[in-house]
Amino acid sequence: MATIIPVEPFDCVVFGATGDLTLRKLLPALYQRFRDKQFSAECRIIAAARSDLTDEDYRQRAEKALRLHVPEPDLAGETVQEFLQMLHYARTDGAKPDGFGPLCALFAEPGEKVRVFYLATSPELYGAICANLGANGLVTPKARVVLEKPIGHDLESARKVNDDVGRVFAEAQIYRIDHFLGKETVQNLLALRFANVIFERLWNADVIDHVQITVGETVGVESRGDYYDHSGALRDMVQNHLLQLVCLLAMEPPLDLGTDALRDEKLKVLRALRPIAPHEVSHLTVRGQYVAGAIGGKTVEGYLKDLGEGRTSTTETFVALKLEVRSWRWANVPFYIRTGKRLPKKVSEIVIQFRDIPFSVFPRDSADMQPNRLVIRLQPEEGMRLGLMTKDPGPGGLRLRPAELDISFEKAFSIRYPDAYERLLMDTVRGHATLFMRRDEVEAAWTWIEPIIESWEATGDKPRPYAAGSWGPTASIALIERDGRTWHEELG
Ligand code: BG6
Repeated sequence: MATIIPVEPFDCVVFGATGDLTLRKLLPALYQRFRDKQFSAECRIIAAARSDLTDEDYRQRAEKALRLHVPEPDLAGETVQEFLQMLHYARTDGAKPDGFGPLCALFAEPGEKVRVFYLATSPELYGAICANLGANGLVTPKARVVLEKPIGHDLESARKVNDDVGRVFAEAQIYRIDHFLGKETVQNLLALRFANVIFERLWNADVIDHVQITVGETVGVESRGDYYDHSGALRDMVQNHLLQLVCLLAMEPPLDLGTDALRDEKLKVLRALRPIAPHEVSHLTVRGQYVAGAIGGKTVEGYLKDLGEGRTSTTETFVALKLEVRSWRWANVPFYIRTGKRLPKKVSEIVIQFRDIPFSVFPRDSADMQPNRLVIRLQPEEGMRLGLMTKDPGPGGLRLRPAELDISFEKAFSIRYPDAYERLLMDTVRGHATLFMRRDEVEAAWTWIEPIIESWEATGDKPRPYAAGSWGPTASIALIERDGRTWHEELG
């Protein structure tokens, strides 16, 4: 049974309160934390949006969202009603200084409570909302602002968002969310590396041949076409989630888990990424866009149809990259990463492929000698598998056979895995920023990503088509096989 440490009373204002993220993720996450008694009914959750709604209207929407997105057994009893009573609605136009009247009225009484301003709006509004929060006197020393990704569209726009927000909030008050960092299994990478002696000693170029990261999704762009088409897989997934995974895998041990120590180490990795030069882009990167196909026996449309009849687009829904971390630890150890929509499985997995043994005492025909491989499953079926060579049982000779040390977290711990937002929202209230991105990290990630986008644009590189339900364009297979390696075969 996990220990729940209650947080101090807070007011959480969510901008973009009628949007998909709030209804699908934030309210269910807050509900689960309330249900676990991590905070009391003294707290207020204030929904801010432009629609003309009453508290009651909003509570009805929220209840519908909870019924859709929270597992049925967790909705039993009085808790839902108690939670809904904590919700208030404030009609707010974040872009206008005089659009904050109802919100200010809710803060008329002076108070010392923690204030969380969660910006789940389009990032173009972040600067204006923050300026208007400041101008309306809502930013207290105990206030924090949470910024959803994407922070900007490129380096320049990211800097502008950071500058605008930084004029009102100190860096220590700014929580830039990368929800992958809130996933239990992603945090478990820290435990794996730094709470066990056996891996960290081997975590380097001496014994690791290469690393693979796959983040596959079966969904298409759904109703997010307008956002997604402006973004694409590189900006939507790689600039943040996948690079954060690379950081956690590649970084040096931090001095401690304090706010800056971990982020300092991640930053060093981002700065150590070897820039991909324009002439290398064609063989170190692959872009794809899904066309109609079938997933799990169900036929699905292609990306262009998903965007809307008659649309054209050169936005990538799949990307594969080969990257290098320039350091002693990782010299000549490539990281192959790939992510895409409409792939055959929703799966996030890391593969650490160890090198061959330097010399074999076994007869050549004793079996296929397979180098050790550590497979870390982030989602679903969270767990880890370590491939080992063992003796094939039986008399006579000494033949070998691969076997696995296999740990399933679900079986080992048998508790519900909290959603990433549950952890991150409570960390914001507590003032723990370790699992959030610092300004310099976001900007370093853009610095590495931007030349790739520029090269794609300069060469007019178009994404290669791949059938929905496949593992992306064949060029992605060629990307790794050219080096005599292969994507982890159980995934495809
Ligand atoms: C989001 C992306 O950040 O992460 C989405 O914008 C993507 O496109 C999502 O679907 C994946 O998150 P998860 O938690 O479902 O793996």
